[in-house]
Amino acid sequence: MIIRPLTGLIGAEITGLDMNDLDEVSLAELDRAFAKHLVLCVRDQSLAPSDLVNITNRLGGPGDTPYLTGLKEYPDVVPVVKEADEKSPHTFGAGWHTDFTFQERPPAKTLLYAVDTPVAGGDTLYANLYAAYDALSEGMKTALKSLNAVHSATKSYGPQATLKNHLENMTIINDDQEPDTQIHPVICRHPVTKRPALWINPTYTIRFENMTHEESMPLLDYLNQLIVNPRFCCRVRWEPGTLTLWDNRCTQHCATSDYQGYRREMWRTTVAGQAPIAFA
Ligand code: SIN
Repeated sequence: MIIRPLTGLIGAEITGLDMNDLDEVSLAELDRAFAKHLVLCVRDQSLAPSDLVNITNRLGGPGDTPYLTGLKEYPDVVPVVKEADEKSPHTFGAGWHTDFTFQERPPAKTLLYAVDTPVAGGDTLYANLYAAYDALSEGMKTALKSLNAVHSATKSYGPQATLKNHLENMTIINDDQEPDTQIHPVICRHPVTKRPALWINPTYTIRFENMTHEESMPLLDYLNQLIVNPRFCCRVRWEPGTLTLWDNRCTQHCATSDYQGYRREMWRTTVAGQAPIAFA
């Protein structure tokens, strides 16, 4: 297995690894690479949906995926598809987020496998939430450690959400009533690395606990801007056969809607996670 960092702070490209043939040694090496690079882009794979399910099981088993519709025979495998003839340029996941932070136990990891990719475009960007935390002043770190944030699916999957109107070839089922919210610490301690991460995102974090939306937004906006500073980010360029895995406990990501007129098909699974814990 050859591991080549994509940037100084986040992401690595892996070659020389067959994800269908993971032994205990390569699993342990993947774990170490995850802890160091947070996002692993494994090239040259040849995976069927059942393979993706097997890999997901090896990594801890599937997470719960509401709102999105999976393949008939493999419900945990969600096809993320944009056809060349779609009217809207908007692609699924085209807003900075960490996956499903509105859940009590958000997914620990996500796997995304490229089946079909445009000639150019449709890249996915990732941001390092440890680095964003590290960049804060001591005063801000202390203030944020005492805060919790409220997370909700309302903007993406609430009764008024319009995301599904832009995705003609995905089956997204919105909530018919206002979705439940979840409270998570703003600074979370990664269960494996024990490092603190600035764990908010602009898609699902709607305010701080015990504060109004108006009171919360200036600081949330500032923090969300800081997180996507180019020095904390990497960009994955896909090709058919690329499997990218990311750690939702310390990253945000964002897909790029710049390939209208071309087809892109990905298969997505998540690995179940635990309730986020506060970094004291
Ligand atoms: C996602 O946000 O889960 C999908 C990202 C992508 O398709 O690049």
